[in-house]
Amino acid sequence: MSESITIEVARRALAGRLQTTGIDSAELDARLLIGHALGLDLTGLIRSANRALTADESNRLEALAGRRLAGEPVARILGRKEFWGLSLALSPATLVPRPDTETIVELALEMLRANPARQGTRIADLGTGSGAILLALLSELHGAVGVGTDISQEALETARGNAMRLGLADRTSFVRCDYAVGLTGPFDLIVSNPPYIPSGVIAGLAIEVRNHDPRKALDGGPDGLDAYRALIPQAARILGPGGALVVEAGQGQAAQIEALMTAAGLVPHGAPKADLGGIPRAVGARKMPR
Ligand SMILES: C[S@@+](CC[C@H](N)C(=O)[O-])C[C@H]1O[C@@H](n2cnc3c(N)ncnc32)[C@H](O)[C@@H]1O
Repeated sequence: MSESITIEVARRALAGRLQTTGIDSAELDARLLIGHALGLDLTGLIRSANRALTADESNRLEALAGRRLAGEPVARILGRKEFWGLSLALSPATLVPRPDTETIVELALEMLRANPARQGTRIADLGTGSGAILLALLSELHGAVGVGTDISQEALETARGNAMRLGLADRTSFVRCDYAVGLTGPFDLIVSNPPYIPSGVIAGLAIEVRNHDPRKALDGGPDGLDAYRALIPQAARILGPGGALVVEAGQGQAAQIEALMTAAGLVPHGAPKADLGGIPRAVGARKMPR
């Protein structure tokens, strides 16, 4: 890019290049990448639209554009992603939290608030990644405490850093273990967005996912349900009476997950909650008091 190009012209040119490579979010991606290269937020970009880019800024922007054009998601380039209004740092060991996963937070809050027996709420998030679900819940539930587990130590360190930056560190702990194996109950709420992509499908996913999300965060075994088979019976054991389990489901998996919940002695909570695309995404169940 020439030095005389303004920020606005550079933004439009980048959006056009991204669009040509089939990137749906080209306009937004271009804004975020220019903002990142120039250290400007969206308001700053609008205010400075007619300023010319310096040679340094052009070079920085071109390097970021090259990464995006090669299939790296914007969230990975920025190293951050917004989830439930919280800004979360990412690392190579963490999934980029998805907007669909906010459905898990919504159903978990509904089920928790409907349980009159709950006192000081204890939450567990199995496969916490960046800590997205746990931290979103704790940001809403001021008296609650929570533990996030993950098989990846690096993911746990990222989650811990996010808890600190959000002022939630004193209400969280993070434990390396296989789902809930290292936990002792009782919990009022257990949430999980486990890996649920059938192994054979991963190679055909978008480059942003298959090359940039960690395999451990995606691979759910031959039919995608391995994690649910492991964690649902574990969760059923450590839930307190009236406690709720809410898990994210891949497309078409909700009925099988409900069957696993029933087999573990839990009572499914009505119809799964759909995400904004209408896909049944959040599956809930309760442990009935004896
Ligand atoms: C789909 S990602 C979800 C991350 C985060 N909860 C979110 O919603 O953005 C699944 C997470 O489960 C973790 N994981 C995979 N196998 C696990 C296991 N056996 N025990 C605990 N965590 C596991 C992965 O490392 C990854 O962080």
